[in-house]
Amino acid sequence: MAEFITNLFWDLIDYLREMLLICRVALGRSLALRAPDRDILASEIRLAAHIVDKELQLHRSLENTTWHVQLGKMISIYESKFVTADPSVLWAKEILKRYRMNIAEGGGESPATEPSYQASRRTSIRRFRDGAIPDSMVAQVIDAGVWAPSSCNRQPCRFLVVRSPDLVRRIGSSLVGGTGFADKAPVIIVALVDLRMYSMPGDRHLPYLDAGAATMSMLSTVHSLGLGGCWMNWKLKTRARRISKLLGVGRYEVPISAIALGHPEFIPVPPSRTTPESVTRFL
Ligand SMILES: Cc1cc2nc3c(=O)[nH]c(=O)nc-3n(C[C@H](O)[C@H](O)[C@H](O)COP(=O)(O)O)c2cc1C
Repeated sequence: MAEFITNLFWDLIDYLREMLLICRVALGRSLALRAPDRDILASEIRLAAHIVDKELQLHRSLENTTWHVQLGKMISIYESKFVTADPSVLWAKEILKRYRMNIAEGGGESPATEPSYQASRRTSIRRFRDGAIPDSMVAQVIDAGVWAPSSCNRQPCRFLVVRSPDLVRRIGSSLVGGTGFADKAPVIIVALVDLRMYSMPGDRHLPYLDAGAATMSMLSTVHSLGLGGCWMNWKLKTRARRISKLLGVGRYEVPISAIALGHPEFIPVPPSRTTPESVTRFL
């Protein structure tokens, strides 16, 4: 009973937080559209294009949402206000064009871009062809996580390698950010931290940084091995609790992030980036 009430309490808090965030984001978006700041609008465009791109990669339709419509509107606003072509906007236009052609208008499968993947930069891969990942490769990926930097050399990360198809399916479908692909990956690696290693209140942000550093190191290694991977996160504490339960993690262990990995089947159009000059200030 006590556990039920505690869970209910946290679910309610999570729900309220989520609602507040949604209001903030909606307000931010409507302000961004009314009096657009170039950088904010470009960021909104990237976000909407990212959602449309995921559906394109998974060859699914966004029929129940209006993301593709919003994306089209934001691109028009951007183009009517600002003259210089922003690489993000060009990328977003390409994604929208492909989405309209291949999904909205019922065309065939969008062609995967195939720059020599090995040599090209890392990009998130969300579609995997069949094929197991050799243990030696998994070991190299974990080694990269272990060798990642950690705050005060705490080395707080633990890695769960999920390979049983049944558990991959159950974990994959619990990860909101992995919807549509994580449950089909040959391997999911979950990075946990042991919270007992952070004793001071001022350390509260460090578990995220530590697990983030390990996750990024692992993703780079995934790419360098010629495999494909995608970082996945989840939003709610309730989700983390559900995932912890499925994984049977220890009392002080908190899952922070996860990677779906496998042999790439579809290489997406790489999202453009801000330029180093535009985001760097030399002091
Ligand atoms: C903290 C973090 C969380 C992420 N969570 C997800 C996720 O839940 N699902 C997903 O498909 N991609 C996720 N990603 C991948 C981003 O969407 C991706 O890195 C971004 O769109 C840029 O694309 P690229 O990795 O192909 O360069 C995440 C990335 C980071 C750094």
